[in-house]
Amino acid sequence: MARVWNGTEVAVDPVLSMSVAVIGYGNQGRAQALNLRERGVRVSIGNVDDGYADQARADGFSVLPIASAGEQADLILYLLPDEVQPAVYREQLAPVLHRGQVLSFASGYNITYGFIQPAQDLDLIMVAPRMIGRGVLDLPREGRGFPVLVGVEKDVSGRALEVAVALAGAIGAAFPGGCIVESSFREEATIDLFSEHTWAAATVYLLKTCCEMLIDAGVSPEAAILETYASGELGEIGKAMAELGLVGQMRLHSHTSQYGQLLWGDRWLAAGARQLMREALEKIQDGSFAEAWHREQEEGLEEFRHRWGELLETDLFTKEEALYRRLGRVASRQAEPTKTPER
Ligand code: NAI
Repeated sequence: MARVWNGTEVAVDPVLSMSVAVIGYGNQGRAQALNLRERGVRVSIGNVDDGYADQARADGFSVLPIASAGEQADLILYLLPDEVQPAVYREQLAPVLHRGQVLSFASGYNITYGFIQPAQDLDLIMVAPRMIGRGVLDLPREGRGFPVLVGVEKDVSGRALEVAVALAGAIGAAFPGGCIVESSFREEATIDLFSEHTWAAATVYLLKTCCEMLIDAGVSPEAAILETYASGELGEIGKAMAELGLVGQMRLHSHTSQYGQLLWGDRWLAAGARQLMREALEKIQDGSFAEAWHREQEEGLEEFRHRWGELLETDLFTKEEALYRRLGRVASRQAEPTKTPER
């Protein structure tokens, strides 16, 4: 079992005396910077001069060029998008970082797959919230915490784990409901990618197929889409899983529903799903997924865009668009395109 810290077991003091540079003021950067400042930590922001930098200044932070912010701080939170991190690290941070500093990542990806290879004399830690940026900001304001995985890749000072736990606590994991779990860069990268390639991918494509099949069987698109995902019931079930356990939440469903789920659940795994999961895990562990994604970016994201186009062309999304227009919502085809790295 992994080591777990919560509540008063979490000592945030080691971070209170450090100067912190938050590199990147996006989803995680803004939330973590504001939470640290709230706890009395000295924070400066390192950012390119864009709208995110304007937001940081509007929030009352001083914004420095990335290299200057990194050079001056004891603790550097590297919170740029994963695709952007390697080039910015190579060109702006590597030349200025020095012995005695702690470099922290919120994801294990770039270190695990070798896209960033920091100098030997830095402490290298991971503080990875299992929470979107909005939750990292809002939950502590309501006195609630969230889970964070921490890991140490390099411990030059002998205090790297202590600093990682303190940082996790200071951004909000020590509040009730939160916890800090000892992990590693490799473990975090593996579970993150595994979730994305298995249940997250399967859920979207399975729900899509369910809708299409119901509509083909004569059900109205409105009823099919609302029943399958647009009602928000799925989100409520997700919340109940966190509170009552994966199958404990089934007690909230009717007996008819419980019987149906118990009857059918296992059969979905019989049809090759386990084999596919194993294949997904192997491609994550041997690095072939990371290699393919790196190549895709180098080659201009042609397949990425093609797959998006093909998916959105499906007839279901014409029907979704009509329903969502009447409900005043943003449909799949209108949702903002994914931010892709500038190169
Ligand atoms: P984000 O996409 O919100 O980052 C935006 C920031 O990146 C802005 O400050 C922008 O100025 C900067 N930026 C974008 N392109 C740039 C470029 N070419 N050069 C220099 N700066 C550039 O990033 P997000 O989602 O906060 O992710 C940061 C880290 O946190 C990643 O390692 C991610 O895996 C991790 N993480 C993210 C979570 C989330 O909720 N989004 C959850 C847990 C971890």
